[in-house]
Amino acid sequence: MSTLLLEAERVKSYYHTREGTVKAVDDVSLDVENGIILGLAGESGCGKSTLMNTLMMKIRPPLYLVDGEIIVDGERISKMERKEIKKKIWGVKISLVPQSALNALMPTKRIIDFIRDVVKFHVDVSDGEIVSMARKRFEELNLPEDSLYLYPHELSGGMKQRAVIAISTLLNPKLLIVDEPTSALDVSTQKRVLKLLLDLKKFKIIDSIVFVTHDIAVLRQIADRLVIMYAGKIVESGTLEDVLSNPKHPYTAGLIHAVITPEPEIRKRGLVSIPGEPPNLINPPSGCRFHPRCLHAMPICKKVVPELVDISNGRKVSCHLVKA
Ligand SMILES: Nc1ncnc2c1ncn2[C@@H]1O[C@H](COP(=O)(O)OP(=O)(O)OP(=O)(O)O)[C@@H](O)[C@H]1O
Ligand SMILES: [Mg+2]
Repeated sequence: MSTLLLEAERVKSYYHTREGTVKAVDDVSLDVENGIILGLAGESGCGKSTLMNTLMMKIRPPLYLVDGEIIVDGERISKMERKEIKKKIWGVKISLVPQSALNALMPTKRIIDFIRDVVKFHVDVSDGEIVSMARKRFEELNLPEDSLYLYPHELSGGMKQRAVIAISTLLNPKLLIVDEPTSALDVSTQKRVLKLLLDLKKFKIIDSIVFVTHDIAVLRQIADRLVIMYAGKIVESGTLEDVLSNPKHPYTAGLIHAVITPEPEIRKRGLVSIPGEPPNLINPPSGCRFHPRCLHAMPICKKVVPELVDISNGRKVSCHLVKA
């Protein structure tokens, strides 16, 4: 029987700005099962990073959790105090490697100093124990132990990314969220980062991964399940194979078409095969948010927000064209 490591129920998180309310995550429900790698994809600005920060309860103004529940390994963190979440949840049950992780390390601290701070916050251990723990982990993951004594600027981009991932998982969190971990890297360095993530799972350091990217081609190499987001909402989810071989939502179909298209220029630019622009999330389109760009839009699509419905065995689609 599979258990759920993370459950998000009808989550809404909005940025309150002077220009208006940005509905960046709008009524999103999502489960992450124990043991899986879940890939989350969607165009730039669709709310992927906002959703990940929200799932972690890393919420600071102008972002607000407007509605919904978030449960991590049985604990309802959406109701917890920030202090408690910091101590009991972050790094211990769930870790996030944020999109800007390459700049996250303090330039004045060596990797080992950074590790010391992270570990000491959670567990009462000596400096010596921390060093041997870090060395053991770096060795296990095939990362050069010498890099522990270097400053961030002395590491290459790929090595820095791998070091950040290793640090984030030192305390064996059950779930690791990585937000665009490979986007700034060349293809061979990307492969090393993917291998590291797979090793973390293989060695049972972590149980599950949520991998966020705008690049479906990367998810093809690593994900078990896919979730597709558009304009603050999930439009489709299912096993990698089902979604890729038989996309049900016109947006997903466009997204996949862009990846498999033989023309390298189109492939590189990703989503250009879908005409039009993603909407402004301060004032998103009525009904289905994709309707202004959808080649199959019907009158109902303008009026009624489609629900994300289970069409078979955990395969979910939010589209008026699809009957449950
Ligand atoms: N601090 C902020 N204040 C106001 N609006 C914001 C803020 N951060 C993000 N947004 C808006 O929220 C929406 C979702 O942004 P988010 O960064 O979550 O998207 P994303 O899918 O991660 O994009 P990318 O692929 O470029 O990383 C966008 O419309 C963005 O402009
Ligand atoms: Mg992002």
